Amino acid sequence: MQKLAIQGGYRLNGEVQISGAKNAALPIMCASLLTADELHLSNLPDMHDVKTMVMLLQQMGVRVDSSVQAATFNAAKVDKLEAPYDMVKTMRAAILVLGPLLTRFGEARVSLPGGCAIGSRPVDLHIKGLQAMGAEIHIEHGYIHATAKRLHGAHICFDLISVTGTENLMMAAVLADGITVLENAAREPEVVDLAHCLIAMGAKIEGAGSDKITIAGVEKLHGASYAVMPDRIESGTFLVAAAATGGHITLTGARADTLDSVLDKLRETGAKIEVAGDRISLSMSGRPKAVNVRTAPYPAFPTDMQAQFMALNCIAEGSSIVIETIFENRFMHVQELQRLGASIEVEGNTAVIQGCPQLEGATVMATDLRASASLVIAGMVSQGETIVDRIYHLDRGYEHIEAKLSALGAKIRRTN
Ligand code: UD1
Repeated sequence: MQKLAIQGGYRLNGEVQISGAKNAALPIMCASLLTADELHLSNLPDMHDVKTMVMLLQQMGVRVDSSVQAATFNAAKVDKLEAPYDMVKTMRAAILVLGPLLTRFGEARVSLPGGCAIGSRPVDLHIKGLQAMGAEIHIEHGYIHATAKRLHGAHICFDLISVTGTENLMMAAVLADGITVLENAAREPEVVDLAHCLIAMGAKIEGAGSDKITIAGVEKLHGASYAVMPDRIESGTFLVAAAATGGHITLTGARADTLDSVLDKLRETGAKIEVAGDRISLSMSGRPKAVNVRTAPYPAFPTDMQAQFMALNCIAEGSSIVIETIFENRFMHVQELQRLGASIEVEGNTAVIQGCPQLEGATVMATDLRASASLVIAGMVSQGETIVDRIYHLDRGYEHIEAKLSALGAKIRRTN
């Protein structure tokens, strides 16, 4: 199993190019199932989850021609309307084929995702929404089996804000008969990016980015070319790493308008931030100040940045409170940060952190994608060497992270 060996104590300095957003690329790739024409995608990040999604689509019969950071998808001949357990268990976003398969082909069989490291994460809202659109759904042998002659429009109000739930139902609605209204919809920029791609394919969607999305179903969609938006979580991760190490970096190809809550928190830590077009610069002198964080759906502070800010708070001046409101078990990095000497107490969904000037290198284990990123940041501010084990989590969702960090001056290498 591969590991990262990190030598702490080096500041990040320089420029780094931000990759395409994983959480936008995955649903947009699934949108290729909605048309028999070609969908050309660019700015696709080079990471495991994207490769897994390519494999899943290929298994269904989609032809994929890929080159560096780009791919053409042709779903003219889809002969297997199924997402098997092996794929869904490694990548929950595979649930995103459910809506497109059902609405275009009238049937889909998708494995239930099952438990996952950061909580139970059910898919009941996806299922209820599709049922409201006329789907017959049976859960059998661990699979969601959905059928429908043609889905019809419906008025759906989500009990809870769900990002992939909103995306699945939006994709189902674009080919449904009539108008669908999604209320209490997710407002995440990745939902908007998917909507823009669908609109480029001929879909009629209004309101994406607000909590009410209206979709007028059309008979069919056509091909399109689309560039995936920059990854706001990768952007935030590099900025936090620079702030924690007292560095000075510039992100290129980034979108500051998707990062307001994260940039505000970074300013609170004492970092100086400048935005010019697609460039975001951060400089930090001295030790960051501790900041309180409470996760909530967009545009509030993202749960996918919680672990990275926790790492920063561990070495910050002062104490802080981190509250996780989205997932019930998203503090698994705490035990690992404690192995590095961090002072953290957890009570339910609240963590209280007392900052200390420096952590001490140790061997730690990555438990999920963003937890892994927090351990890498913690390693960079620890004295001596930190080994981060099980980095396959990191490879799922970050493009060439150690190469990018090395280019910024971090001492980090991959070992077997
Ligand atoms: C997406 C992101 C993930 C991010 C999360 C929250 C992708 C591929 N992944 O995950 O990186 O951390 O949004 O911003 O975009 N829920 C239910 N029933 C459902 C669906 C969700 O109870 O049917 C609950 C979940 O357990 C969770 C909350 O709703 O507590 C939000 O989950 P959701 O927004 O659906 O997360 P994902 O879309 O899976």
